[in-house]
Amino acid sequence: MEQPLWKLLRPRRIEDFIGYESELQKLTNLQSGGVLFYGQMGCGKTSAALAVAAKVVGSGVLDEEHSVIWDPPRVWASYVDVTLNARGVLDLLKQKTPLFGRWIHVVDEAQELEHKQQQGLAGFLDRQHSGVVCICTSEVAKIHPRLQQRCTHVALGPLTTEGNRQLIQRGWRARGMQGAPPMEALLDAFLEQSGGFDYTDPSAKLPSPRDVLRAVDEICNGQTVGAAVAAVADKGQG
Ligand SMILES: Nc1ncnc2c1ncn2[C@@H]1O[C@H](COP(=O)(O)OP(=O)(O)OP(=O)(O)O)[C@@H](O)[C@H]1O
Ligand SMILES: [Mg+2]
Repeated sequence: MEQPLWKLLRPRRIEDFIGYESELQKLTNLQSGGVLFYGQMGCGKTSAALAVAAKVVGSGVLDEEHSVIWDPPRVWASYVDVTLNARGVLDLLKQKTPLFGRWIHVVDEAQELEHKQQQGLAGFLDRQHSGVVCICTSEVAKIHPRLQQRCTHVALGPLTTEGNRQLIQRGWRARGMQGAPPMEALLDAFLEQSGGFDYTDPSAKLPSPRDVLRAVDEICNGQTVGAAVAAVADKGQG
């Protein structure tokens, strides 16, 4: 089956991100410590961490399928999804941490780590001074305070109206439908559904970028705007 738009258009480089560009760029200068990427499902946490890691490494693309890339002795990067490696995450990180040189690890879905492992990870951060661990989660309340304290916090969320317009345009273009009229209608429908324009209210349920791209896909598959919006209430990675 054809790849869904949200996967096809995953921003691989920091420059591909809509919004957040300077924030992510700054993170590439960190020499050590943790970074906690948090926010609702589908708002770009995994993409952001991978893009930062790819930039730090400076060559190649880090993704979910290629869990390690390295350019030794200069820099190493790795990716681990906790849901696929529930118990051995800390051991994996230790294995992938070089004795010399810079490194960056991405630990995805970190809310799945048991508290003991989270404390182990905090201890690991205390002992390391030449690398960065990016921790991604949509449930920040499940991250141990000790681990949270050791991290720079990066909140990701829904895009602004202008950001969503840009995202929808990307989707249309990727499907060869540029200039298709439903774009403004789709944007309006999302804004209406999300009850206005308050992107600063963390409790507002606004569509994530993944929701938006799913809706574009639905419309490309012949759905009406209304049906597309109704169909995409965030259902996780699926
Ligand atoms: N800032 C952005 N600019 C452009 N596209 C984005 C942005 N944020 C997210 N996306 C789109 O949303 C998709 C989902 O992003 P990603 O998988 O990184 O989200 P996530 O927060 O890790 O989700 P989950 O909570 O399910 O793990 C991306 O593949 C991309 O298509
Ligand atoms: Mg993710």
